[in-house]
Amino acid sequence: MRPRIPGGRTTVLAALLSLALAAPIAAAQAQGAPPHGSVAGAAPDAERPHQYEVTGPATAAARTALAATGASIDEVHARAVVITADRAQAAAVRRLGHTLRRLPDPPVAPPAAPGARAKDFPPGYTGYHTYAEATKEIDALVAKYPALLSKQVIGTSHEGRNLLALKLSKNVSKDENEPEVLFTAHQHAREHLTVEMALYLLNELTSKYGSDARVTKLLDSREIWIIPDLNPDGGAYDIASGNFRSWRKNRQPNQGTSQVGTDLNRNWDFKWGCCDGSSGNPADETYRGASAASAPEVQVVSKFVRSRIVGGTQQIKAAIDFHTYSELVLWPFGFTDDDTGPGMTQDEHDTFATIGKKMAATNGYTPEQSSDLYITDGAIDDYLWGDQRIFAYTFEMYPSSFGSGGFYPRDSVISKQTSRNREAVLQLLDLADCPYRAIGKQNQYCKGR
Ligand code: ARG
Ligand code: ZN
Repeated sequence: MRPRIPGGRTTVLAALLSLALAAPIAAAQAQGAPPHGSVAGAAPDAERPHQYEVTGPATAAARTALAATGASIDEVHARAVVITADRAQAAAVRRLGHTLRRLPDPPVAPPAAPGARAKDFPPGYTGYHTYAEATKEIDALVAKYPALLSKQVIGTSHEGRNLLALKLSKNVSKDENEPEVLFTAHQHAREHLTVEMALYLLNELTSKYGSDARVTKLLDSREIWIIPDLNPDGGAYDIASGNFRSWRKNRQPNQGTSQVGTDLNRNWDFKWGCCDGSSGNPADETYRGASAASAPEVQVVSKFVRSRIVGGTQQIKAAIDFHTYSELVLWPFGFTDDDTGPGMTQDEHDTFATIGKKMAATNGYTPEQSSDLYITDGAIDDYLWGDQRIFAYTFEMYPSSFGSGGFYPRDSVISKQTSRNREAVLQLLDLADCPYRAIGKQNQYCKGR
């Protein structure tokens, strides 16, 4: 299972590695060492998790049992999955009787200087925005479109970075009586493409106002919220060594252990930890945290969402939380396999499914209820619907599989893979005044709006 080093290079590489210096490794890379090289990456981050292809699990129940090891499930196929697991979790998955094949680590890039902290994404990825770059771009947009776009700091991350909410609307400084829609991104640190998705929407919706009729009409009649980065600490940590760390959680320490981080998408305060859809072990990828909303980032965003209850009515009607990867459109609930039941009527389910399939038809993703993958509890979409009655979706963006880049596709895909979701976003914005219109029941549910 050890990654292979191409034959003729072995001696040269061994010599270079023995120097344990970044520069020679950079040279080896420049000479064309494979981009997926665990070659040079063996030394740093001995504790970093790896991805594995797991053959065996073929049902949602089997995948839920697999997820109970604390590994994250990154891809779901008919008779196999791809997971991210540390050594202990991989062993636990083997004990379940599955076969594991280790996949190569993400591309290695040398740090600028030995011991230096990388300030930017590595070569091939510099088109991705660091937190600082994203902030700068957002501030420039706010300065350029002050009548359309406003920025609020809604709180801070564990390490003290600002968590931003951007509002987009005509007369942006006024709280008008218009349906609101929320877009969130980057709960999971390694899913950097989702920040690009948020930045794409900010650029698109501001720059096309006045020239694109649909964008203009939607900004005239909706209030759009974009929270572009829920996990800035995790994102910075993922790139800080100069190599990607495949980090998922936030960077909040846990009591009584050196294991850091909470899986933000298992920490939301609805059916938290109810259903074997998260882990109670701080070492795990899907650690749910010490209590519901114990992560400051989740607390801040939950509070923001609740602040949009005006006159007893939640103003936010629809939402998308962006993740990577697998190319999926998911809807609640994740905590149960049931399509309907407490908190989800048949009409509500049909509305979710109809809009979900409509959006998926525009971007080519696969639409399904999130628990069709495996059970999750404490996920944001379950919270937004279960607690706030917001039609909330999860998009798993590009790529469809590990082979096309997994969590780390090159920056050359950004433009195509963010604009790919333009139509789905516009459709959801359009339906936000009455999502039930999707099933023809606007008269029953939305009279008098
Ligand atoms: N990859 C996502 C995660 O593990 C999928 C979540 C699916 N469940 C859901 N409720 N959206 O967080
Ligand atoms: Zn994710």
